[in-house]
Amino acid sequence: MDCLRIVGGQRLSGKVSLSGAKNAALPLLFAGLLTDKKLQFENIPNLSDIHTTLRLLEGVGAEVEFNELKKTVSVFCPAVTSCEAPYDLVRTMRASILILAPLLARVGEARVSLPGGCAIGARPVDLHLMALEALGATFNLENGYVHGTLKSGGFLGSEIHFPFPSVGATETALMACAAATGTSVIHNAAREPEITDLSMLLVSMGAKIEGMGSSKLTITGAKLRPTKAHRVIPDRIEAATYLMAGLITGGNVSAEITGEFLTSVLSVLRDAGAQVSETQDHCIEVANRGGLSPVKITTAPFPGFPTDVQAQLMALLTQAEGHSEIEETIFENRFMHVPELIRLGARLRIRGNHVDVEGPSALQGAIVMATDLRASASLIIAALAAKGETKIRRIYHLDRGYEDLHLKLKSLGAEVYREREN
Ligand code: UD1
Repeated sequence: MDCLRIVGGQRLSGKVSLSGAKNAALPLLFAGLLTDKKLQFENIPNLSDIHTTLRLLEGVGAEVEFNELKKTVSVFCPAVTSCEAPYDLVRTMRASILILAPLLARVGEARVSLPGGCAIGARPVDLHLMALEALGATFNLENGYVHGTLKSGGFLGSEIHFPFPSVGATETALMACAAATGTSVIHNAAREPEITDLSMLLVSMGAKIEGMGSSKLTITGAKLRPTKAHRVIPDRIEAATYLMAGLITGGNVSAEITGEFLTSVLSVLRDAGAQVSETQDHCIEVANRGGLSPVKITTAPFPGFPTDVQAQLMALLTQAEGHSEIEETIFENRFMHVPELIRLGARLRIRGNHVDVEGPSALQGAIVMATDLRASASLIIAALAAKGETKIRRIYHLDRGYEDLHLKLKSLGAEVYREREN
């Protein structure tokens, strides 16, 4: 198994090249099942979650081709030959549930193992099922599998009211509504940029969607057809991670990304004393010009502060002068990075869904364990500021979501090594 060895204390600077957004690419690839013609995608990151998705697609009959050099993928599913997403694949990636709507749309039946993924809370799929039921599907649970069926005639347009703006359930609903007969309205839809990316694909495949980027989406379904190659948006979570990595080392890092994708993150970083600017080559640059101040944040659905950046911010705030507070409202049990950060010397205290951070602390290298995808990123950020050497184990979590992480960090000036460990 590989581990990362980081020697802290190097100042990071420069422009990081961003990969396509994992969280946009996954639903887009599943949407490739919605037509029997070939769909092409560009800017697909080479990540283990992408490979899991491609295997799931192959498992139901799709021919997939991933050109890892060009970062392109084609999905071609002339006929669905199986309607099952097996446990062994699904358990590693919660987003596998996104195969449910396209399978039902294509063949009126789907059997999907209940998902696993990061160990961050219960993460049920009730909202996915509720949305599909509103459009005519029925479900029962059999031996750990969700078995869904749909009467002949396919999904029928309807109204969907989400009690909470779930990202994945909004994507499930969008795919089903786009393939449905008639018009549907999704109320309280999630508004993440990755959802707009999926909407854009569905529109270019023939669906009509009004209200993109808002919490009310009106969708008129169509027989979905192939379209020109779709380019995945850049990864805003990856961008935020590198910007913070630069900040904790007293450096300055830039990334080519639309500022609107990062509004809440950049405003928190400004409050923490970072200098945020837009460069002439359309990059966001974040620089540490004289220390960091404490902040209080609460995670929230987009455009609020992303839960996927909470762990990284916590690592950064260990270097702010004073008392910071972080409240996590999206997932329970998303503080698994806390004990590991404490091992590096952070002063943190968990109070329910709050963490108090006292800074600045003198971080020191240690052996730490990655526990989930973003938790691993927080350990890296802390390690970059720690005195001495940190070894991060179980980095397969990182491989789910960060493409070429050690190479990108190296290009910014970090001393980082990816090594094999027995
Ligand atoms: C997506 C992202 C993930 C991010 C999260 C929140 C992908 C592949 N993953 O995950 O990186 O952390 O959004 O921004 O895009 N919930 C239910 N029932 C459901 C669905 C969700 O109760 O049917 C709950 C979850 O348990 C969680 C909350 O809603 O507490 C948010 O989940 P959701 O927005 O659905 O996140 P994901 O789509 O799983």
